[in-house]
Amino acid sequence: MAENREIIVAMTGASGAAYGLRLMQRLAQSGFHQHILFSDAARVVLKQECDLILPDDVSQVPFTLAKHLDVSPEMFVNYGLKDWFSPAASGSSDIHQMVVAPCSMGTLARIATGISDNLIERAADVVLKERRHLILMPRETPLSAIHLEHMLKLSRLGVDLLPAMPGFYHRPSSLNEIVDFMVNRVLDHLHVPHTGPRWSAGDN
Ligand SMILES: Cc1cc2nc3c(=O)[nH]c(=O)nc-3n(C[C@H](O)[C@H](O)[C@H](O)COP(=O)(O)O)c2cc1C
Repeated sequence: MAENREIIVAMTGASGAAYGLRLMQRLAQSGFHQHILFSDAARVVLKQECDLILPDDVSQVPFTLAKHLDVSPEMFVNYGLKDWFSPAASGSSDIHQMVVAPCSMGTLARIATGISDNLIERAADVVLKERRHLILMPRETPLSAIHLEHMLKLSRLGVDLLPAMPGFYHRPSSLNEIVDFMVNRVLDHLHVPHTGPRWSAGDN
């Protein structure tokens, strides 16, 4: 289990908003204090895919989110995309891990090329320059050579790329189980214990 329970969790405008929401819920249940960030496109996708409308006032977002996820609002703090004074924007902060789930190809490209034009990109830039732990859950299909080159570059920098590619060997019977498959893989990479299914020698 990770000692430092501070984490940045960002959602961007790729399909699969349910992955990000479920991750936030599971991390809150595991006692993580989350610095949550939403791109403008993430808000559009959240409404389209999950019927969740986040308030414009960032101070109210934790309450809306916590109600939706049935967790305590104290587990979240939300910042505006241009809040350069937030802890996530500075390498001197004590936040050592960041997840972007889902991660759009646009945000992936901007992280890979160091374009820190919003707080999500700046926070990822900080995590990279401080050689901390960055997990991205990219989602697109098909993938162009541009997408693949950016992913290769990030992988070589030590970024954990966990594409939204759920397995089916555990025979999921619901959408929630498919979402949980991916979220459990993220939790594995954060060293957060979970009781989700694991492949073992006796399964084949
Ligand atoms: C419903 C919906 C689904 C989308 N799905 C994807 C996707 O799976 N992958 C992707 O890279 N972009 C997807 N997009 C496009 C991105 O939202 C768009 O490129 C946006 O500029 C990304 O901005 P962001 O990186 O700041 O979130 C989708 C957009 C919408 C509205």
